[in-house]
Amino acid sequence: MSTEPVGDARARAVAAHRAHWGEPAAVVRAPGRVNLIGEHTDYNDGFVFPMALPFDTVIALSDGPPGTDSEIRSEGYGAFTLDGDVPDWGIYIQTTHELMGDRLRRAGVDVPVWRGSVATDIPTGASLSSSAAVEVATVLSIADRAGFGIEPVDVARIGQQVETRLLGVATGIMDQLICASAVAGSASLIDCRSLHITPHPLPAGTAVVVMDTMTRRELVDSEFSARAATCFRAASLLGVPALRDIDEVAALASLASEHPLEHRRASHVVAENARALAAAAAMRAGDAAEVGRLMNESHDSLRDLYAVSSEALDRMVEIARAAPGCLGARMTGGGFAGCAVALVRDPGGSAGVEPFLAEVARAYEAWSGVAPRLWSCRAMAGASVEQLG
Ligand code: GLA
Repeated sequence: MSTEPVGDARARAVAAHRAHWGEPAAVVRAPGRVNLIGEHTDYNDGFVFPMALPFDTVIALSDGPPGTDSEIRSEGYGAFTLDGDVPDWGIYIQTTHELMGDRLRRAGVDVPVWRGSVATDIPTGASLSSSAAVEVATVLSIADRAGFGIEPVDVARIGQQVETRLLGVATGIMDQLICASAVAGSASLIDCRSLHITPHPLPAGTAVVVMDTMTRRELVDSEFSARAATCFRAASLLGVPALRDIDEVAALASLASEHPLEHRRASHVVAENARALAAAAAMRAGDAAEVGRLMNESHDSLRDLYAVSSEALDRMVEIARAAPGCLGARMTGGGFAGCAVALVRDPGGSAGVEPFLAEVARAYEAWSGVAPRLWSCRAMAGASVEQLG
């Protein structure tokens, strides 16, 4: 159990780069994220409320010899040549490199030859957006070596296109956009249609605790695609461009008898958009208890209407809600496995949220037989590039 996440991915990436290729010219970091509320709303043009976590994926980089292929090394995995024989773990970097290459060529900019050493402190498969962080870090690395200025929204769009190409489904933009644009100390309300981002400082006297159930699920892509397809069908049956355009659950009544599945899924999305906006208002009013209550409602809706929770996530949420100081708890991210998130009263002082962490660790391990990983997280800044030398 830890209260402050620790990670030295930056030091590891730099050391690996020195060992293989010499001094890096720059270091790019891209954080993981946790979403506080607004789940499965982004691909419906709706509202999300994520923040960046103190875990980073880091790329230490330098120029490669002109006329050669770019090369990537990742700790624990090995090395590969971009555009060559790409191993499974390198597919996100390769696809980002292809899309970024297209982008540079369209702008009349030469595609750079570069060498990148990758290290990460983001737990993978835990719903903390490790893949978005790799995409964002890769876009920024290539842009840096090409001397190409790029806005956070465009960085995020390229990452989203990578996911769409690899999953074969139109995914949302939340993960990449918060990774590229987060503001330290704040969660950001993002309008996923206008891509307008409004940072909201976290309520005073609270802590955000990320709770890893230690469960991982493969093959969730087909479930994700199915949810998205059902939402798109519901919007089309209702004659609107996206479920974002429906303001009230009552307006879904026409779906109820003939299309009960579309009705259930759309009911979640419409109410969840309203909850994300209400949470932002509560945050502005400093009403942490109301934010927590909305988070609880969000989880119940994801479990009952959207069917993307799991036994472990439900149990973790129940345990968290019963633990000292909890204001609200819910699953976070796509679902089916991985992490939940809680908003916890933090009275400060040396104890802080320790009683909450101790009780959740005890009760979850008693239930599952596995010690969960728990992190009390500060909200961090989005991705950045540091020039060395
Ligand atoms: C995954 C996707 C996001 C979003 C969430 C659910 O994390 O990558 O775009 O759809 O699921 O809110």
